[in-house]
Amino acid sequence: MPVINSVSAMADEVAAWRRDLHTHPELDFDVHRTAAIVAEKLKAFGCDEVVPGIGRTGVVGVIKGRLPGDKVIGLRADMDALPIVEATGKPYASQTPGKMHACGHDGHTAMLLGAAKYLAETRNFAGTAVVIFQPAEEGGGGGREMVNDGMMDRFGVHEVYGMHNMPGLEPGAFALRPGPLMAAADRFTITIEGKGAHAAQPHNSIDTVVIGSQIVTALQSIVSRGVDPLASAVVSVTVFKAGEAFNVLPQTAELKGTVRTFQPEVQDMIERRMGEIASGIAAAHGATATLNYERGYPSTRNHEDQTAFAAKVAAEVSGADKVITDTPPVMGAEDFSYMLLARPGAFIFIGNGDTAGLHHPGYDFDDSIIPVGISYWARLVENAMPA
Ligand code: NI
Repeated sequence: MPVINSVSAMADEVAAWRRDLHTHPELDFDVHRTAAIVAEKLKAFGCDEVVPGIGRTGVVGVIKGRLPGDKVIGLRADMDALPIVEATGKPYASQTPGKMHACGHDGHTAMLLGAAKYLAETRNFAGTAVVIFQPAEEGGGGGREMVNDGMMDRFGVHEVYGMHNMPGLEPGAFALRPGPLMAAADRFTITIEGKGAHAAQPHNSIDTVVIGSQIVTALQSIVSRGVDPLASAVVSVTVFKAGEAFNVLPQTAELKGTVRTFQPEVQDMIERRMGEIASGIAAAHGATATLNYERGYPSTRNHEDQTAFAAKVAAEVSGADKVITDTPPVMGAEDFSYMLLARPGAFIFIGNGDTAGLHHPGYDFDDSIIPVGISYWARLVENAMPA
């Protein structure tokens, strides 16, 4: 059974919502207009409960099926945009310079609203659907804030599902995998303290440029020599700041970068080795180095049973030949990971076609996939809690 007919009929209406959100992007937790529109629409659809202000600016809607049932299924979309100057030239392009829906969260929000509308109208299930609209996916940890706000217990959510569009994947096709799908993203700063001197008198210095260079080089051995070749990890130094003048050896140097991992034990090992390498090399030269390692979003790990179920639903909507069930993990991160740590569930990619990449100023969400995404949400609820 493909895309639902009544969902196809609402595609233009939902696309209009999407374009309105696209014109008015909001960042981080400051998604006040977007959250207000979401809450207003959920009420208009006749949701049994609409609760704003979860995890600061998140919104939750509750839709009870026409038959009673114990099960509660959570569906999640993200609402925030990015600090990017839009270059799509579309008539509905951002009207706020420097803010842009460049990750398609406008499309995610619109599709979940469409699903809420369909589910509130039809209620063809036995149990409860909870639609979750989160702020601050792009770095602020809005998903974590909603979980920490007690959302899962308060609404009795048993399982939780998320969806993200993917440029490069055929429009309407789906991709997912059990286990790690997206990486943990950490950031680090290494501060090296040596001894400044005149550049013509290096013997009077403890040269933080030379020491920093050796640290950068040695950090490359963590992944190549320390991580199982069949596992994956990234250690990238992206900032090296030292000195201001051609004739001064700087007293301090600072390195910054990011670490991406899938397994907690690899993450622990990398953090430990970074500290050992930095302080060991610095000590060998009579300097000191301190590592400040900040853990970011954890790895997004799909649960096995829920992933198999999500794949089955996706195949029902788009056909089994359009569902990749063993897609390679990606090194990007996603804060739906916090929801998957709190409850079993699955995150799925929906193809956005041959568009510019995510976070690119030329990116745009493909409105043609709206009925596919809504049908996936609708069938997921109807299949998980059959009436
Ligand atoms: Ni995104």
